[in-house]
Amino acid sequence: MAPGLDESELAAYVEDALSRVASASGPAALGALRAELTGRRSTLAKWHRELGSLGPDERRTLGRLLNEAERAITEALGERDAERAREARAERLVADRLSLDELVDRAVDTPLARGHRHLVTKTRDELEDVFVAMGYQVVEGPEVETDWYNFEALNLPLGHPARGMHDTMYLDVGTSESVVLRTHTSPVQVRSMEAAVRDRSLPLHVVAPGRVYRRDTPDASHLVEFNQIEGLVVDEGITFADLAGTISAFTSAYFGDDISARLRPSYFPFTEPSAEFDITCTICRGARCRTCSQTGWMELGGCGVIDPAVFAAVGIDPARWSGFAFGFGIDRCAFMRHQIADLRALVDNDVRFLRQF
Ligand code: DAH
Repeated sequence: MAPGLDESELAAYVEDALSRVASASGPAALGALRAELTGRRSTLAKWHRELGSLGPDERRTLGRLLNEAERAITEALGERDAERAREARAERLVADRLSLDELVDRAVDTPLARGHRHLVTKTRDELEDVFVAMGYQVVEGPEVETDWYNFEALNLPLGHPARGMHDTMYLDVGTSESVVLRTHTSPVQVRSMEAAVRDRSLPLHVVAPGRVYRRDTPDASHLVEFNQIEGLVVDEGITFADLAGTISAFTSAYFGDDISARLRPSYFPFTEPSAEFDITCTICRGARCRTCSQTGWMELGGCGVIDPAVFAAVGIDPARWSGFAFGFGIDRCAFMRHQIADLRALVDNDVRFLRQF
C-alpha cells in the first residue's frame, strides 16, 4: 500500500465524499465540492500520484480501486447537479405561478385597458356616414381584379399611356398580366354599373371604400397598400355642377366649415371633363406653408363626368343617362385631418401613436 493509503481508508473516504455530495445545496457549493473532490489538488489526485512508488501488482489493484472511486464520485456529482436543476425549475414554476383569483381581484379594482378601432377604420366609417347622409349606398368590390375591370372597361386599353400612372402588382394567375391587385377603387364603378344594368336598378348613387395596391416605395406620403373611397352617381340630367356641389358639401361635412374645395382641370381616361380636387391646407388653413408648398391647398383626389366610353363598356345608354365619379385616399384624409407627419405611422402599429385617435 502507498504511504497514507489503504483500501479501508479509500472506502471511508469515498463514503464521506458521497454523503457530502448528497447534501450539497446551491450550485456554488456543488462547484466548490467538485473542485475539492476531483480537481488537481484533490486527495484522489494525490493518491494517484503516489501510485508511482508502488510495485506493479499493488499499483494495478490500487489503481483500479482509485479509478472506481473517482468514477463513483464524478457520477454522484453529475446526478446531484441534475437534481439541483430539477429542484430549481420546480421552485421557479411555483414562484411564477399566476393566481387567477389575484388577476380577477386586480381587474375588478383597475379595469383592463380596452383597444378601439384603428384610425383608418374610423376615418372610413366617418366618410361612409357623410355619404350615406347624402343618400349614397355603400358597396364593395374584390381586391383581386381582372385587367378588364381595373383598366380596360375604364377606357384604359392595353398600351394606353395612362396605365403608366399605376404601378401595378400582377398575380401569377391565368394568362400573363391578366389578374391584378386593384390599383384603385374605380373598378367598383364598373361592377356597380354592370349590376344596375342587369337588375334594371338605375339610377345609381354609390360609394365604394376599400384597400388598393401600388408597386411603390413607401415614404412619408406613399404606402404600397392603402385605402380609397370611390363615388359614383348615374342619373338623368347629371352635370359637372352636381359633381362640384357634391365635392364641396363633402369637404365641409368632413373637414369643417373653414376648409373648402377647389377643382383643377386634369385628365383621367374614364372621365371627361376630368378634374383633381384640392382642399384648403389643413396645417396653415390657407395661409401658405411648407406642407402645401406655399399654395394654401392640398391635393385630395380625382373626379369628373363619366366618359361615354365607360358607359359603352357596361351597356348604359349615354343619350338617357349621365353621371360623375370621384375617388380619393382614405388614409390621406386621416393624414390631413389629424395633421399626421408620416403616412407610415398608420401601418407601424405603434400603440403610443394609435392611442391618440
Ligand atoms: N382612380 C383614380 C386614381 O386612383 C382616382 C379617380 C379619378 C377616381 C377620377 C375617379 C375619377 O372616380 O373620376 O388615381
